[in-house]
Amino acid sequence: MAEAPINLSGGSHESGDQSHSNSNVKHAVNNGTRASYLARYTSSDASLDSTTESKKSFKGHDMLAPFTAGCQSTDTHPLVIDKSEGCYVYDIEGNKYLDSLAGLWCTALGGNESRLVSAATSQLNKLPFYHSFWNRTTKVSLDLAEELVEMFTARKMAKAFFVNSGSEANDTQVKLVWYYNNALGRPEKKKFIARSKSYHGSTLIAASLSGLPALHQQFDLPAPFVLHTDCPHYWRYHLPGETEEEFATRLANNLENLILKEGPETIAAFIAEPVMGAGGVIPPPATYFDKVQPILKKYDILFIADEVICAFGRLGEMFGSDKYNLKPDLVSMAKALSSAYMPIGAILVSPEISEVINTQSSKLGSFSHGFTYSGHPVSCAVALEALKLYKYDLPGSLLPYKSSIVHYLNLFPFIPPSPPYFFLGKVRLGGCVTSHMEGHLNGFWLVYPAFSILSESDMRLSNGRKKNWNYI
Ligand SMILES: Cc1ncc(COP(=O)(O)O)c(C=O)c1O
Repeated sequence: MAEAPINLSGGSHESGDQSHSNSNVKHAVNNGTRASYLARYTSSDASLDSTTESKKSFKGHDMLAPFTAGCQSTDTHPLVIDKSEGCYVYDIEGNKYLDSLAGLWCTALGGNESRLVSAATSQLNKLPFYHSFWNRTTKVSLDLAEELVEMFTARKMAKAFFVNSGSEANDTQVKLVWYYNNALGRPEKKKFIARSKSYHGSTLIAASLSGLPALHQQFDLPAPFVLHTDCPHYWRYHLPGETEEEFATRLANNLENLILKEGPETIAAFIAEPVMGAGGVIPPPATYFDKVQPILKKYDILFIADEVICAFGRLGEMFGSDKYNLKPDLVSMAKALSSAYMPIGAILVSPEISEVINTQSSKLGSFSHGFTYSGHPVSCAVALEALKLYKYDLPGSLLPYKSSIVHYLNLFPFIPPSPPYFFLGKVRLGGCVTSHMEGHLNGFWLVYPAFSILSESDMRLSNGRKKNWNYI
């Protein structure tokens, strides 16, 4: 099970859209175990030998599981997690794991933060639900909107709109941008540019924006209004002798050429993750955003920062926009917003866009978009408490997960550098929580174990890798 560690949980998606990655895919397939490889390509195996009766009883379970191959549910036992404690989780057998992916990049405050539990409980006792439609809402959602608008200082923002997930945030972005351009009387300005290997979610529009072929194949995606430009992975795609700055210039030129080819009057927005996550944890090459942003301005193209995994300290600053000097018109966030204790996401809207939306809706009537759970009071209460923790109690760091990085760094010296093991191509700790470890194994690029769950017994290994050092 340790072969081809390519997985959606932060591993390197081999999208096959660029020649280098194709050869990696072939390598995996040629090495046999095609079915197993394909399963891992779109999902990942549970890491434990499943020997006990209680684990066996979950084989062939009744859940149609997300990002899991059908044959996995029928042929193998799922890893069933039962409880959490800081940066550790325990399965139903009581085995302990270091959850270094932080759930799905979301449980930034760890598994048993009592202040979040109290915030949820108090809100549940007081007002478990009220909606935010038709100019009704709750105090706690208004407080959270105010807090988010204030907290985002990379540029001034005017409004926060609440959703339940990162995918809903990005779907909302597209509708908002279309609504905005319709209001401005430019109905042809509707196309979106995203990047190859990006991940923006799995609903229809968010999956279209994503630059990962696995999200498109067999789903009749991407939608025709989405264009994809280069993946900004310098280490992988730079030309011989090309510096990071030159690579960034080439990518910015390619972006401008794409805009000109399509017609700037048809391009509505560009969406980018500050650091690409599921596509392989790819920080932007030096000067990349400095070169891209003026091009967007020049052609009146909105910039959407997808901060769904970068926000709230992951990169060592509160937002990825702070780290890379981004001035987005719209921002998507979710995940660590509530440390995943309750589902919630938000988008931030610039004053200029907000103004147009207001003017338009006074002509049209209501802004007809939203969800029953937009601004769910319990989610908002938890998010408000999480923001307090990020701002005042853990300044500059997310302590539970910092400790996981230390574990990994301690582990590396024990891994022998001989084939078929790997060498580390690059280690960046991204300021704080993004431990970016890429390795190279016979043509595979690996984002090594910062995005996996390891069992404690695996971690205690002192003599190289054990076969079940796996990715889930
Ligand atoms: C950058 C980014 N945007 C959007 C999403 C989608 O979020 P969700 O799974 O909450 O819909 C993800 C999920 O990993 C993400 O990494």
